[in-house]
Amino acid sequence: MNNRLSGIGLDDRSFRKPRFVAVSSGKGGVGKSVIAYNLADHLSVAVRVLLVDSDFFAGNLHILANIVPQNTPQKTDPASGIVFNAVTPIHKNLDLLTLGDQALPDMKNLAMFLKNLRTQAAGYDFVVFDTATGILPQTTLILYSVDEVILVTTAELTSISNSYALYKVLTGAKTHPAVALLVNQEDRPEELAYINDKFNSITRQFLGHTPGCLGGLGYDRAMVDAVARQTGIRFVAPENRLTAAFAALAGRLAAGTKVDQITPETINNTALEADIRE
Ligand SMILES: Nc1ncnc2c1ncn2[C@@H]1O[C@H](COP(=O)(O)OP(=O)(O)OP(=O)(O)O)[C@@H](O)[C@H]1O
Ligand SMILES: [Mg+2]
Repeated sequence: MNNRLSGIGLDDRSFRKPRFVAVSSGKGGVGKSVIAYNLADHLSVAVRVLLVDSDFFAGNLHILANIVPQNTPQKTDPASGIVFNAVTPIHKNLDLLTLGDQALPDMKNLAMFLKNLRTQAAGYDFVVFDTATGILPQTTLILYSVDEVILVTTAELTSISNSYALYKVLTGAKTHPAVALLVNQEDRPEELAYINDKFNSITRQFLGHTPGCLGGLGYDRAMVDAVARQTGIRFVAPENRLTAAFAALAGRLAAGTKVDQITPETINNTALEADIRE
C-alpha cells in the first residue's frame, strides 16, 4: 500500500500517514480527555504526535497538560475559515492544537479543515483527537474523517447504551473508521467481560457486526492524582498498572496495529473472548 492510492477514494485508510485516531464516547465524563492525553503522551515516547482538542465547548487538554495555548494571534485556516490557536508544544514529540472556545464551526468549513489537516500534519505520525460527548454533527464529522475511533465506555448501563447509539451511527456510513471499545473506571476486572459480552450481543443482533475491544483500564487513584498535578500518569506513577496499560496500548499502535486488531490481552492479563468478529 502507498499514499498514491489515497486520492482515489479507497476505503482502507490504514496506510495513511499520519494516522488519525479519535477518542470518543456516547456519554460525558467517562474519561475521554484523560485517555486521549495519556495515550498521546505515551505515543510521543516513540513517535511524533499532534493532540487535537476538538471538544468545542469545554476543551480542557491544556489544563491536563498544564500549558497555556498560544492563542495570540489566533490563526485562520485560509481555505476553511476555521479559527484555531497556534500549535503549542507540550513536550518533545507532543504538540497541542486547540479548536475549543469558539462557536461551533460550520460543517462545510470543518470538513475542509479536517481534509487540509491531513497534509498540514504530515510531519506527525499520529493525530489524536479528544472529542465532545455524544452525537453532535460536528463530532460525528470528525469521527467519520478519522482512521480509528476508541469508543470509551464505563460499566454504567447508560454509558453502554449511549455507546451503542454512537457505534450504530458511526458504522452506519458506507465507509467508516475502525472502532474499538475501551472500558474505563470499572471496579472489578470481571466487569470488562460483562460489558464486552453485552455490547457484542446487542451489536451482533441488531447491526450484524461488533467492534474491537481494547480491554479495561479500571479505576485507579493514580489517574486522579495525575489530573490534580496536571501531568501524565507516567510522571506521577511510573510503575503503576494503568501506566503500563497506556504504554502497552501505545506500543501496539505505534507498531502499526489498528485499534480493532488489538486484543484485551495487551492491557489486561485476563484473557477475554473479544475477538469473535464477523
Ligand atoms: N481510569 C480512571 N481512574 C480514575 N479516575 C479516572 C479514570 N478515568 C477518568 N478518571 C477521572 O474522571 C475525570 C473525568 O475524566 P475526563 O474529563 O477525561 O472525562 P471526559 O469523558 O473527557 O468528560 P467530558 O465528557 O466532560 O469531556 C478525570 O478528571 C479523572 O479524575
Ligand atoms: Mg473531555
